[in-house]
Parts: sequence; C-alpha cells; structure tokens
Amino acid sequence: MSHVYITHSTLDLDDLLKLHEAMRAESIPVKFAPDDDNDRDRNNRDIDDAFAMIVLVSATSVRSKTVRQDIERAKARGLPLIPYQIDKARMNGFFKQEVQPHLRLSSTTPDGLNQLVQQTLDAYKKKCPVIAVMNLKGGVGKTTVSAQVFGAWHAMAGGRILLIDLDPQYNLTQTFYEMDVADESAAADKSVISLFERSRLHTRNAESPAEHWLNLSTEPFAPVARDYLVHDIMAEGNSPPGRFDIISGQFEISKYAFATDNDALEQIKRHFLRQVDFYRSEYDLIVFDTNPNATFLTRCALEAADRVLAPMHTDIYSLRGVKLLDQVLRTQIPIGKRPALSVLFNAVSRSEQSTFEADARNGTFDDVARFPLSDALLKSALPRSKHLAVKPPQEGQPAWKQLVIHSGRGGGLKQIRESLKTIALELKELCDETH
Ligand SMILES: Nc1ncnc2c1ncn2[C@@H]1O[C@H](COP(=O)(O)OP(=O)(O)OP(=O)(O)O)[C@@H](O)[C@H]1O
Ligand SMILES: [Mg+2]
Repeated sequence: MSHVYITHSTLDLDDLLKLHEAMRAESIPVKFAPDDDNDRDRNNRDIDDAFAMIVLVSATSVRSKTVRQDIERAKARGLPLIPYQIDKARMNGFFKQEVQPHLRLSSTTPDGLNQLVQQTLDAYKKKCPVIAVMNLKGGVGKTTVSAQVFGAWHAMAGGRILLIDLDPQYNLTQTFYEMDVADESAAADKSVISLFERSRLHTRNAESPAEHWLNLSTEPFAPVARDYLVHDIMAEGNSPPGRFDIISGQFEISKYAFATDNDALEQIKRHFLRQVDFYRSEYDLIVFDTNPNATFLTRCALEAADRVLAPMHTDIYSLRGVKLLDQVLRTQIPIGKRPALSVLFNAVSRSEQSTFEADARNGTFDDVARFPLSDALLKSALPRSKHLAVKPPQEGQPAWKQLVIHSGRGGGLKQIRESLKTIALELKELCDETH
C-alpha cells in the first residue's frame, strides 16, 4: 500500500516525530528520509511511490537542499503537496512559488495537527474517476481519443493518469511502444492480464495465465506496487512533469471470451474490480481503452467505470453502436452502479458542422437512439486531422512524443491541440461535478 512522504529538515525532529505518531494513530503509512544524508535514489523511489507529500515548513527546511530536491521530485511526478508550517519561516523564492500556494495549515492554528491528519487521510482514501472509452462499433476513434484527449488532459491539469489497455488488439499500447516491447512485457506478465489472474508478478513460481487458455485461475492475489505493473510513458527524455502511465495490453485476454465457467469468470471479474479500486488511490484519473464488441471485458470495464466516453462518427453505424452501448448499460448494470454516458463526435469535418451533427444536437436522433443522445453529447467535437492519424512509434524516440499535445509538426497543429484541450476540459468539468 502506498504511503505519505514527509520532507523535513533534520533539525525538525520533534515535529517530525509528533506528526509520525499522529499518522500512525490513523494507520496512515509514512516514509521520510531517516538521517542527514541526501540519498537521492532512495528518496526519489519513496517519493514516486507516495500518494502525497507533507512538507514541514520551517526556518531550516526552507534552506535545505534535500527538501528542495524532494519538492522538485514531487512536482515532476505530479504528487499532491500538503505543506504544514511549524515555525515563523521566511519563504524564499522557491518556497513562495512551489509551496506557499498550497499552504493552509500551521501548528499554531488550533487543531492544526488534526486538520493535517484529516487532509492526509482524505488524500489516502481518495478514489479517482474511472473513464471507459467505449463504443460497440469499431474504428470510431476509441484508441485515438484514449491517447490524445487524455494526453491533453494531462498536459492541462498535470497529476497522475493511468491508461489501461483492455482491448485484445492492444492498439493503445502500440501507440506508445513498438510491438516487441509490448510483447516482451506481456511475456513477463507485466501487462493487463495481471489485473485479472494471479501471475508471475504476484508469485514467482506461478504459471503465466497467458499460457493456459483453458485454465482460469481464481486464486486470490494482492495488488503489486504500481511500478512493477505499469509503463511510465513520461519516463524518458526531457518529459513534461507528472505521471502518464499505461498498463500494457495483450491478445491473451481474449481467453475470457471463450471461457464457459461462469463462476470462475465472476471471481476473475472481482479480482479486476479490486485491483482497479486499489490503483484508484494512486492516480488522479484512470482511463480504459476497450474492444468494440460486447464481451466479458466490456462488463468488467462498465462495472469499474463511473463514466463512459463514447466516440462516434457522424453516421448511422456509429449511432447504432452508441444505441447498443446505452442498451447494454441499462440492461446489464444496476442503476446505482451505472456509469454516466458522454458521447463525443470524432473526425468531424472542420469546415462546417455536418447536418448529421446538427440534427443529433437538436434531438432528431433521440428516438432512434432510444435515449436522450442530445443531452449526452459533449459540446465540443474532435475534428478530422492528419495529426491524429496513427503514427507508429519511432525507434529511439521517447514514448510521450506520440502525444499530439507535446509533439508534431505542420499546419493545423495549433487548432487540433486547442480542440483536444477543450474536450479534455469539458470532460474534466463533468467529472468534477459528479465525483
Ligand atoms: N479525428 C481523427 N482524425 C483523423 N484520423 C483519425 C481521427 N480519429 C481516429 N483517426 C484514425 O482512424 C483510425 C481508427 O481510429 P482508432 O484506432 O482510434 O479507432 P478505434 O475505435 O480504437 O478502433 P477499434 O474499434 O479497432 O479499436 C486510425 O487510423 C486513427 O488514426
Ligand atoms: Mg482501438
């Protein structure tokens, strides 16, 4: 389980211990640098695995090189900061910029320590939104939207986003990594199958669930620390700050579509839901890219998600896909657990709004869709653009350069980035309202 990281000056030991005790009383795991030496590798590792960082703000911590480097690392990884002032420290430029905007709590305010514990507890228990990008129609831009809209969300809002490739075609993984990288990862079970069944990630001498198509393992297993499972898309090169991770996909999760043991499938679905729930405390958003046909994987995605984003083209085939999707939602998922549905027009012509789009927006298709499609439509739409056409990853180029929001060349790039950001913002506001 993840922990809160406390960055402190070694001269503030009394306050550190008091804080440690208070966290322990609430069973919040804590890590901090135990001594004077600035062991960057160890600190960085502990910071990367934390769910938040408490900054003990004091006259000495403001001047500490270790504290400054800890805060820089937290910023680079999109970790929330919870500063706590323990004396009359005078902020320098760095603290004024990075820490002061978050500073609300101090040991001199009555109940300051309790408030700090409460805020930390809230961050510890926080469950981020989960969005399933889905349409029961193929080729409408699910994978493109999963990468590019959420890449723009991340560029705008920062923080930590986890993509999960739930499509056995694993095109989302191949957007960022070459096929052999994805397959090598899957060969070690560092891939999506480890959310469903116990694998070699969980127990060294376990058999790989990918090797046994006819066996379903219902053995329970504990979630692994995320670094064993995810690929850090922002890892290489001079990447933007924050985390943008992916659990890579593989063909072998098709096995569940052929399985006939419903009791075992039910258990495996529960494993999946529990794993996703665990990682929800460690990210600010989780996104699933999904397969276009209704399968066991569809059910898993719908039960774990609190919102479905359905990209559609401006044509009747896509409309039919969305209609079926809504029908699956209504008939298969009980009302209290049913995710909200948002529909996004994708690949629309930039020059003028099509009649189809205009009709959809004014409710003409609500009857055909058998649900209020016009209400579910996002106001913003994603234009057709050459910048969104699939480009395989280039050898030697960092994975994050596949994101249009960070990389690209040629006319129309500015407009497409604006569209991606507008959609991300609209979606984020919807999530903030309902979450
Ligand atoms: N807005 C767009 N402008 C231009 N090309 C696009 C756009 N959206 C998607 N595409 C292209 O359309 C094709 C299909 O897109 P994508 O793979 O994202 O669809 P999908 O719904 O994930 O497909 P599948 O159902 O097979 O998973 C890809 O070649 C993609 O690059
Ligand atoms: Mg796809």
